[in-house]
Amino acid sequence: MFNVPHHAAPPNVPTKDFFDTKGLDYETTYGHNAGLLKAVDKFAARLRPGCRVLDLGCGTGRPVAHTLAARGFRVHGVDFSETMVGLSRAAVPSPNGVFECAHLLDWASPPPASPEAAQQFGGIVATSSFYELAREQMEALVSRWRDWLEPGGSALLMMVAAEDVPGTRDEMYDPDGRFARGIPFRFMGDDCFLYLFTRAGWRALLEVKGGLVVREQWVEAFVPPREADCDGETNSFLIAEKVVDGGLNYLS
Ligand SMILES: C[S@@+](CC[C@H](N)C(=O)[O-])C[C@H]1O[C@@H](n2cnc3c(N)ncnc32)[C@H](O)[C@@H]1O
Repeated sequence: MFNVPHHAAPPNVPTKDFFDTKGLDYETTYGHNAGLLKAVDKFAARLRPGCRVLDLGCGTGRPVAHTLAARGFRVHGVDFSETMVGLSRAAVPSPNGVFECAHLLDWASPPPASPEAAQQFGGIVATSSFYELAREQMEALVSRWRDWLEPGGSALLMMVAAEDVPGTRDEMYDPDGRFARGIPFRFMGDDCFLYLFTRAGWRALLEVKGGLVVREQWVEAFVPPREADCDGETNSFLIAEKVVDGGLNYLS
């Protein structure tokens, strides 16, 4: 079952229109995140040389798609903002970069709606790009990764964990304690209310829904420039692998 309704998306999160107006301002604020650059290097070192990498919510294409393309990978990016897709295409021109403008849930719908989704990738990356999705939407999206990743392929996730945002309160958590809703967060001049997994929740998302084995998990602080009018972040990083034999695939 994949078709999760779009109206289940949380309220008061950055929308497509928001990212259309931000464009390069986003890159100015977040494009030099040292923790993210280090994570992309670690991730790249695990990938099969020259493979295709799926970048979900690719943003401006910098630093992630651009860094991967510079290491010889072919990047397939998806983003619902025309502005962001245009910037990504400029950052990583074809044939090394191919970028589609689509909502992640539409793109992820099973064939024939999106034949591209049936293809295999050596890597999948999602960095700060799930905040517009509700819990069941993230779970449905990541459950497709087991089909998209080739055996031995790796995934990189960078997100903020619920417990790392100072405004998260006990009453915001789901009964299983792995997800919290309505967390106040200042993002590029806007007051947002985020839906976030906990660190254990992000890990379970990859292992239980994605059928992957988490190989590395760590956190890094990111302090945005003062003029960006954003809260600071503790970024949670996870690198997971699709194991050829054995592993946690039985969990789903
Ligand atoms: C916070 S930015 C991160 C960009 C990039 N991954 C990075 O790390 O620099 C989130 C990006 O995901 C895109 N995005 C958010 N929700 C999306 C959705 N449901 N479908 C497609 N793109 C989405 C936004 O347009 C934006 O470019």
